[in-house]
Amino acid sequence: MSASVKLPLVHAVDIVAGEGEAQRLLGDLAARLAVDPGVQRMDWEEASASWLCTLANGGRGRLTLAAPADPGSVVESTHCFVAAFEQGTPAAAEDFFAAVRQLPFTLTEIASTLSELPLTGSLPDRWPNKPLGDVGVLLTIHHMRDFLILVDSLLALGVEPAHMTVIDKEYPYAHTHRVNAHLVQRHGIAVWRYRDLRAGIEDHIDRVAAAGKRSVVMDDGGYVMPTVLRELPDRAGHFVGLVEQTTSGIRKVEGLQLPLPLVSVAESDMKSMIESYGIADAAVRNTLRLLPDEKFEGQPALVLGFGRIGHEVARVLETRRMRVAVFDSDITRLVAAHEEGFLTGLSLEDLVRAHRPRLVIGCVGSRSFGLREARLLPPQAFLVSTTSRNFEFALDELREGSIAVTDRGVLGTGYQLADGPGICVLGHGMPINFHHAESLSNRYVDLVLAGLAVGAVALAGGDERLRPGHNVAATNEILSESGIVVDYYRLYGPTAGAGRG
Ligand SMILES: NC(=O)c1ccc[n+]([C@@H]2O[C@H](COP(=O)([O-])OP(=O)(O)OC[C@H]3O[C@@H](n4cnc5c(N)ncnc54)[C@H](O)[C@@H]3O)[C@@H](O)[C@H]2O)c1
Repeated sequence: MSASVKLPLVHAVDIVAGEGEAQRLLGDLAARLAVDPGVQRMDWEEASASWLCTLANGGRGRLTLAAPADPGSVVESTHCFVAAFEQGTPAAAEDFFAAVRQLPFTLTEIASTLSELPLTGSLPDRWPNKPLGDVGVLLTIHHMRDFLILVDSLLALGVEPAHMTVIDKEYPYAHTHRVNAHLVQRHGIAVWRYRDLRAGIEDHIDRVAAAGKRSVVMDDGGYVMPTVLRELPDRAGHFVGLVEQTTSGIRKVEGLQLPLPLVSVAESDMKSMIESYGIADAAVRNTLRLLPDEKFEGQPALVLGFGRIGHEVARVLETRRMRVAVFDSDITRLVAAHEEGFLTGLSLEDLVRAHRPRLVIGCVGSRSFGLREARLLPPQAFLVSTTSRNFEFALDELREGSIAVTDRGVLGTGYQLADGPGICVLGHGMPINFHHAESLSNRYVDLVLAGLAVGAVALAGGDERLRPGHNVAATNEILSESGIVVDYYRLYGPTAGAGRG
């Protein structure tokens, strides 16, 4: 018999809703659990105002809707949803929490998110004739609240929920389980995990092709088309086109003969000129949030890669009063960094040895920093990545070169290097702006999400400017014509007649 949990385990989540809506959410969850084969019975206990959940394997959990003890410290209309596992094995607890974490968002929460994404939310008004009615959509976009507004708009633009599939990239976003629950329970949309990517793609094609439709891919990191072209080449014809929102995705499709048009929001002026600063700022802010007791002012930092994001990260760190060095393997970028006043060098190793950065932020998009360089860092240095997945740092090398590797919880992974310092890879090397966070503010990301939908509409409508392969100039034209950038300017630019904003 496996051991029982020693102390009650608790999962608590704040939800924003009116009293009745919050109670309904709890009731819906209890009803879902009641029909779960692993649950023997659900009983309402009047005295404690909670649902008691008796599991088939003898475990016991409890669901309660509580009020915050200090209402002044939370958003108005906050309720605290508390799930406690009181008795049973750790495995039973895991199953219990996996089920109770699946809480869709409330109407109040969705209305508030919608108000923060006016461009994406109003796209259906722009195209009332349902331009996406004849296509399916396969999406690999970050599982965050903003994404739900994009999904609502795509549905209103005509996509059938049954013809939409979402691949969950499995990053630890702040609200990942709730987003998942919302997609599945509120919309009936198929969600597949990144680890099952190929099966998810095949299932999507079967479902949509059976309805006589083809699909648009909306991707964030080059997940779908490389898999289709390498592993399912005879099914590539199912896709009308691809909208890609990040440069790492562009790099992944670069070596492939793309048989369909790519709307490259990733390389658009809109993305590089407006969004990169926001990503850099969000990355630095989340780094500081995870390390509230550090003092970085006056300390040396190193930025790897002086591209769109790295350039902005270097500038943001400078405004945080750090002494910033930059390394880029491209000599022109290196000169640009030097002429902008950053400390630079032709050899990364020499630069690390001389500068001894306490904070290294990787913005290259592929492996840029390994054990050899890490050994030259000062004690208690932090490695931080903005790159997709965990590709920036040679984590396998760091592990092999360490005498101890410690999981430091939400902070990341600690490596005590043999013949070197103890360092910490923040967020386990995943992009820091998403690590238990939601990256950019919704009002910021609104423009790019709306841009992705504009790209999907252009592809579905067979815009003749979009040819197989890259379409950077046409992407810029289509985004510009759509009016979303003008609307963004109207929302956040200078007030009319005010001149410089
Ligand atoms: N965290 C996020 O929200 C987010 C959003 C978009 C993109 N990204 C990631 O950020 C990465 C960078 O995006 P970008 O738009 O700044 O790309 P970019 O192409 O503009 O910049 C990359 C820079 O790295 C340099 N470089 C390449 N190899 C190098 C090496 N080995 N060492 C040092 N420098 C090297 C290049 O010369 C270039 O200047 C993307 O690949 C993607 O993975 C993250």
